Amino acid sequence: MSAERFRIVGGARLRGEVRVSGAKNSVLKLMAATLLSSGKTTISNVPDIADVSIMADLLTRLGCTVVRSEGSVSVDVPDVPGHRADYDLVRKMRASINVLGPLVARVGQAEVALPGGDAIGSRGLDFHIKGLIALGATAHNEHGYVMASAPHGLVGAEISLDFPSVGATENLLTAAVLAKGITTIDNAAREPDLVDLGEFLIGMGAKIQGLGTTKLTIEGVTKLHPTQHSTIPDRIVTGTWAFAAAMTRGDITIHGGRAQDLELPLEKLVSAGAIVTSTEDGIRVRMDSRPKSIDVATLPYPGFPTDLQPMMISLNAIADGDAIVTENVFEGRFMFVNELVRLGAQINVDGHHAAIRGIPQLSGAPVAATDIRAGAGLVLAGLVSEGTTLVEDSFHIDRGYPRFAEELRALGADITRESAE
Ligand code: UD1
Repeated sequence: MSAERFRIVGGARLRGEVRVSGAKNSVLKLMAATLLSSGKTTISNVPDIADVSIMADLLTRLGCTVVRSEGSVSVDVPDVPGHRADYDLVRKMRASINVLGPLVARVGQAEVALPGGDAIGSRGLDFHIKGLIALGATAHNEHGYVMASAPHGLVGAEISLDFPSVGATENLLTAAVLAKGITTIDNAAREPDLVDLGEFLIGMGAKIQGLGTTKLTIEGVTKLHPTQHSTIPDRIVTGTWAFAAAMTRGDITIHGGRAQDLELPLEKLVSAGAIVTSTEDGIRVRMDSRPKSIDVATLPYPGFPTDLQPMMISLNAIADGDAIVTENVFEGRFMFVNELVRLGAQINVDGHHAAIRGIPQLSGAPVAATDIRAGAGLVLAGLVSEGTTLVEDSFHIDRGYPRFAEELRALGADITRESAE
């Protein structure tokens, strides 16, 4: 299959309705957590994105039978799943690391390839490893793999994270649900995706208190059972549509979007001049004028999500005024700024701050998506650029946004997919 890119002719004001499907950052973690019980678990509201297929391949290699049908996935887990997640799959998708906690807890051992750095910066695993050791496992890095073992089972412990890492909280939560006794996780992540995972585990019979707060208390049980669960809507996709409406001076009704998961980003859009209203089943975002510049600092939830930082920078690039965007989560996340500068954006990056001087209009040019969210931020920038923008490597965008180009077309955008050759 040849590489694809998006061709965008800017200028359209997006109008219409979209429906948000399940959250990528939730469904992949739910799929990994099915390993905690033998038998068949079914997850609905599953987005049609490539990462779901990669997680399905990984679970299949661990001995599970995975069946996908429209909008749902069922995972039938054997009594004794495999315990090795190879590099060829893990390198394609960081969320593969989420099989670590469930495998150690259920199988007593795990060998999971280190995902390595990626285009948004280094993403350590030290909290995951320290936490597993606190739970009584042995765990270390060897030949590019995390090797963890707890042949006699895990034991509850008091764990305190140095930073509310989403991935570490998930891996330790999914390990602790089968540990003997009580585990507490202090400074735990509070992301809605993590709450969804916790509720999924409770559906499997886990005993968890404090979901959505900074302290989780888990009382281990000896066995979990399969369940059925519907994934929460994707708050980052919802936020991307909200930014698209604001940047293009459009009017988009986002069915399924949950305002409560996006309080700060929506407040920021209102400060930029957008009109945000609740609808029966979602959010409507309208904008009539050029956005005003907005300062933002990314932080763990409920702070401004790092995943919406590229959209915020793109908005500021065409806003009225100057803004500072501070990235506190991933140091490499400003890499895409160089692409935005190719569209004429006036941005200076100094360490983890980007200073943006808004200009009335960007000017279309070829650019390359470096990761999912940077790709979406570049597409939004292309929509408000004069002339044609080519966004190369659009496969990154397809990893997180089901039918993005097609949905944008339905809203009035001039965007097509084409072969890069
Ligand atoms: C992060 C985001 C999450 C987003 C996801 C996908 C935060 C806090 N997390 O989750 O909202 O949906 O990316 O883009 O915004 N760290 C360590 N050692 C560890 C684990 C993490 O140093 O063992 C550091 C990372 O390098 C990073 C920070 O902690 O600087 C946050 O990492 P973490 O929350 O674990 O990342 P993800 O789970 O990928």
